[in-house]
Amino acid sequence: MITQDGLTTAQIEFFELNGYLVLPNFVDDDACLKLREQAMILAKKHCPSPQEATVFTADGTAVHASDDYFLTSGDKIRCFFEKDAFDEHGELRQDAHLCLNKLGHAMHDLDPVFKDFSHSSRLAAVAKSVGLQRAQLLQSMYIFKQPRIGGEVTSHVDHTYLWTEPQSVIGFWFAIDDATTQNGCMWALPGGHRIPVKTRNRLTPDRKSTFNEIFDPTPYPTEGLVPLEATRGTLILLNGTLPHRSGPNTSDKPRHAYTIHAIDGTANYPSDNWLQRPSLPMSGFLN
Ligand code: FE2
Repeated sequence: MITQDGLTTAQIEFFELNGYLVLPNFVDDDACLKLREQAMILAKKHCPSPQEATVFTADGTAVHASDDYFLTSGDKIRCFFEKDAFDEHGELRQDAHLCLNKLGHAMHDLDPVFKDFSHSSRLAAVAKSVGLQRAQLLQSMYIFKQPRIGGEVTSHVDHTYLWTEPQSVIGFWFAIDDATTQNGCMWALPGGHRIPVKTRNRLTPDRKSTFNEIFDPTPYPTEGLVPLEATRGTLILLNGTLPHRSGPNTSDKPRHAYTIHAIDGTANYPSDNWLQRPSLPMSGFLN
C-alpha cells in the first residue's frame, strides 16, 4: 500500500525496525547537479578567512566549540573547514573552497536553489509517513567530503545535538555524488535506534560553548554497522537515535551530500540546544 506519494507500508515497517531507510532515485540527477553547482557558488561567496572559520574533528564537533562563528550559524549560511585543510605552517593546502568540510545551517531558508530542493509535497509526505506530525526544518548542511582530505565522522546519534522532548529529529540525507565505501559513504547500525541515548550536547550557562551531558559513558557499538552505499539522487532517512558514522574519503572522488534535519513542531525544543534561530522561524516541507 502506498500513502499519498509517501512511503509504502513495507518501507515504513523497515524504517521502524531498522531506524533507517534507503530510497534510491528519489531526486533526479539534474536537481542534484544544480544543488552541487549552487553549493560551490555559496562556498566561494561565504568563504571566511581560516582564522575565523571553525575546523571539524573526527566526531563531527567543532574544535573551537566556543567559537561564536559556529554557535551563531543556525540562521545563517556559513563555511566550515576540514582539519586536514591546513599544512604544518597553518596554511591552506588548496584553494579555500576546496578545503571545506561543510556549509551550514540555513541554506534551506536563505538560498533560493536550496529552498526549492528542500521543500516539496513528496518530502512532506515522506516526513508524515515516518511519524512527523508537524515537520519543521531545523537545519541544513551541505557536506563536501573532499577527495583525500574529507574526514571521518565517528559514530553518533543526531538526537545528542538536536535534542527535542520527546525525541523527534529525523535526518534526510541526499547523495549528491555516488557514495561508496571508498569515498566515505554512511554506515548505520540496524536497530540501533532502540539503544537509549547516551549523551546530550548543550550550551553552557554563558552560552559561549557546549558540553556533553553523559547518561551512559559506554561508547556506541563499533561492530555490526552496515555500509549504506548510495547512487546520486538517493535519499536516506535516519532516525535521530540511530548510531551512524562515515569513513574518511581516501579516494580521489568527491562525495558531496546534502542533509536536512527535521523535528516535530509538537515537541519541545530546548533553549540550551546549540542550534538557535533567533532571526528565522522554522518552516515545514511545504512552505
Ligand atoms: Fe549525523
